[in-house]
Parts: sequence; structure tokens; C-alpha cells
Amino acid sequence: MYDFAGAACQVNGIFKMRTRALSSVLVVAFTALALPSFAQEAPSPEKRAENATATRQGLFKLLGFNMAPIVGMARARLPFDAATAERNARRIASLAPMIPDVLAAMDTREFDVETEALPLIWDNLDDIDDKAQNLVSEANKFADVAADGDQQLTLRGLRALGGACGNCHDAYRVDND
Ligand code: HEC
Repeated sequence: MYDFAGAACQVNGIFKMRTRALSSVLVVAFTALALPSFAQEAPSPEKRAENATATRQGLFKLLGFNMAPIVGMARARLPFDAATAERNARRIASLAPMIPDVLAAMDTREFDVETEALPLIWDNLDDIDDKAQNLVSEANKFADVAADGDQQLTLRGLRALGGACGNCHDAYRVDND
């Protein structure tokens, strides 16, 4: 009779060997990938300031990216689409808690970086926290209304959502409007 148990054991054994061989290949591959970054020197403070600026601007670009279709719908440049409005508002709600993190990550006031962030941000990180929290709740409120699908009610909510962006820009971003 065919030895099912033995065969299964063998297959299992081969599989384990394969897995072990594969994991050593992976270890070697990852070590090779990681080595160059160990070899590099730590970035200079100037470079870190540039990176921190690029990171926070990247986050704000993403907020803008998600906001743009909502604004487009409100201005009738795009057809109303409740699902997109809801999805984008939820995305904004999940991105917004990162705002205090990316700003607190590095005080770049003393560095020559291209930025619209006003220096007083770093004396007011608690307020930044509040304003980011406010954006989270406005974005979720907007999304909840959009989820019901009513175009007028949804788009009427843009003022409050946009206000949560604008009240931080008014206080903490170079005034270029
Ligand atoms: C808590 C404060 C705060 C909130 C809330 C906020 N922003 Fe900003 N935003 C900033 C600051 C500060 C900058 C300037 C960043 C810099 O240049 O380093 C900025 C920059 C931007 C930029 C320019 C990014 C670039 O460099 O190209 C866009 C776009 C933007 N914000 C969109 C939004 C949108 C949309 C919202 C709301 C959904 C929002 N922001 C909410 C503080 C905020």
C-alpha cells in the first residue's frame, strides 16, 4: 500500500529545506540591499532639513490631491460623484493626523529650505495638533454626509471642510493667496 504518511513527510521535508534555502537567499539579498545605507554617513543637518521639508510638503500635496476633485465638483467642473467625495474625504481624515508628526519631526526654522511654513509653527505645536484634529473631524463629517449621496447637502459641507484647511494656512503658511 502506498505510504501516504511517509510521502507526506518527505514532501514536507523537501518543503522545509526549500523554505530554509529560500530564507538564506533572502537574508543575503536583504543584507546586500541594506549594506550601502550602513556604509553611508549620516545625512548632514542641512540634508535632514531638506528631507523633512520635502516630506511635509508631500503630505500637504496629498491633501491637495484628494481635495481637488471635491472642489471640482463644487465648482461644477466635475460631475458630482458621492462615492469619490466620500472616499477622498476619508483619505483626508486619515492623512491629517500625520500633519503634527511631520511638522514636529524637525524644526527647520534655522535652515535655508524652500518652504511656506511660517517659523511660529514650532512655538505652537499644540495648536497645530488642534487644527489637525479639527480637520479630521470635519473631513469625517463631510464623508458621512457624502455617504448619504445628497449632492446639495454634500457640497454645502465644503465650506466647513475647506475652512479646516484654511484656518491653519491663515495662521501658519506664507500668505500667497
Ligand atoms: C495644521 C495646519 C495645516 C492644515 C490643517 C492644512 N495645511 Fe496645508 N499647509 C500647511 C503648511 C504649514 C504648509 C506649508 C508647508 C511647507 O511649505 O513647508 C501647507 C502647504 C499646503 C500645500 C502646498 C504643498 C506644496 O508644497 O506644494 C497644499 C496644496 C496644502 N497645504 C493643502 C492643504 C489642504 C487641501 C488642506 C485641508 C484638506 C490642508 N492643506 C490643511 C498647514 C496646514
